[in-house]
Amino acid sequence: MKKELSELMRDLDVKNAQAADSDGKRAAKQHEKGKLTARERIDLVLDPGSFVETDALQEHECVNFGMEKQKFPGDGVVTGFGTVNGRPVYVFSQDFTILGGSLGLAFAKKIMKIQDMALQNGAPIIGINDSGGARIQEGVDALHGYGGIFFRNVRASGVIPQISVIVGPCAGGAVYSPALTDFIFMVNGVGNMFITGPQVIKQVTGEDISQEALGGAKAHAEKSGNTHFVFNDEKACFDGVRTLIELLPSNNMCNPEVVDWGDTIDRMESDLGGLVPTDSRKSYDIHDVISRVVDKGWLMEIQPDFARNMVIGFARLGGSAVGIVANQPAWMAGCLDIDASDKAARFIRFCDAFNIPLVTFVDVPGYLPGKAQEHNGIIRHGAKLLFAFAEATVPKLTVTLRKSYGGASIAMANKDLGCDFMLAWPQAEIAVMGAEGAAGIIFRKDIQAAAAEDQSRVKAEKIQEYEDLFCNPYVAASKGYIDMVIRPEETRPRLIQALRVLKGKRDTLPPRKHGNEPL
Ligand code: HXC
Repeated sequence: MKKELSELMRDLDVKNAQAADSDGKRAAKQHEKGKLTARERIDLVLDPGSFVETDALQEHECVNFGMEKQKFPGDGVVTGFGTVNGRPVYVFSQDFTILGGSLGLAFAKKIMKIQDMALQNGAPIIGINDSGGARIQEGVDALHGYGGIFFRNVRASGVIPQISVIVGPCAGGAVYSPALTDFIFMVNGVGNMFITGPQVIKQVTGEDISQEALGGAKAHAEKSGNTHFVFNDEKACFDGVRTLIELLPSNNMCNPEVVDWGDTIDRMESDLGGLVPTDSRKSYDIHDVISRVVDKGWLMEIQPDFARNMVIGFARLGGSAVGIVANQPAWMAGCLDIDASDKAARFIRFCDAFNIPLVTFVDVPGYLPGKAQEHNGIIRHGAKLLFAFAEATVPKLTVTLRKSYGGASIAMANKDLGCDFMLAWPQAEIAVMGAEGAAGIIFRKDIQAAAAEDQSRVKAEKIQEYEDLFCNPYVAASKGYIDMVIRPEETRPRLIQALRVLKGKRDTLPPRKHGNEPL
């Protein structure tokens, strides 16, 4: 006999209640571990009341190892869509309380469906990860599921922003999908990432290491560089995701929104020049320069604890989102090394893919010399930076603050790599190398030929000679290699003027399948 409508409604309510963990038992398990539930996380990242859940009743079909008795509506991942500051986004959130958030075929299909919708509709996707990786009971079906997710991550790369949040012990396949996305957020003491966990490492190599030391936020922020943002609690982390989404365009066919924070365009910063010592051996913190130039001093710094000789992040100039790339003289004198090149190159490529102009601040003594750098591939890694800047077709603005030597001078987005506006401060030194090194090479014989008591005087004269000729911005300016030598305090208005002029920039690459970036 057909059921009454009221009964049918009750059935639906029961099913939805099961999916939503309405008795709160699973939530309690998660809270005991100091973690939020999958749904609480979604509520924090999306605008209140905007979440629409999909596939809440989907279940796995696995019958191995008694799995037919362990079915959960939704199968351990909450998927759907909603809005962030009114703009559509897609989201999935893994539920560790169901089989450790492990990924089986049904679970994977739910994520793939959301990935397909996000790509088709040109909206960002946020993946909240809290998972033990491939569901061991499902075997090859779980591997197949991951493969499909990775494939979609790659197809969506450069088309829609993809953001991963790591809020649990993520192992195996659970970390490769985040690695294929644009930005990884981690919460200190909550999120871990590793391909193989401490137990396997102990068995295979005998090494003893805790989960946190191996794959905690600190390890990935400082050592591996795998994470881009670290927060101390989940609420702050999801606020951070919202801030990033607000800054980015929804997809590669749109421009980022212009948001006026009321900072005056022609604001001059009279102490800006004085922040940078004219003695190029003295250091200073590049953050002090950036914060005086950008709107309201705000920089959303990315990977602040990794390759600290290079500072990257998002800021606004005259309301427009920009990507900042800057040498940091306060760390390893701001030289370029493998990690700094990798860090900046990937960021430049992201900005280029999503129509975000690049603003580069240069104070670079060159590449870090040394056997370790050479043998670990600085040639290949350093080339990534050249490749990324040269390939980028977004507006590119460069400000040379002080040192700009050798290959590093080119790699920091000079005119030859397609910089649209090349500005320099009066203390800029654009040369093949610093005067002391240069004089020691080209005048070595003159110095040696001088009487012993005269050698240091001759050397000083030769250094001065080289400095007078090259260690200034005027030779480069006289040849058109820089467009303007400006007073430091003018930096902000000049950059904003240039950005406005470049608004309609059209630059296309030759037709090709893709370039062959050194990886
Ligand atoms: C099925 C899993 C699981 C998994 C955890 N569980 N991981 N079930 N498949 N992969 C289950 C546990 O059996 C347990 O169930 C519950 O989830 C919670 O797990 P605990 O171990 O109690 O939690 P915790 O102590 O916090 O440890 C979390 C963990 C650990 C570090 C993630 O569970 C772990 O090491 N899991 C295995 C990780 C792993 O090796 N995954 C496969 C990777 S291979 P009960 O019923 O007891 O509550 C892979 C291949 C993909 O992913 C390759 C693609 C490139």
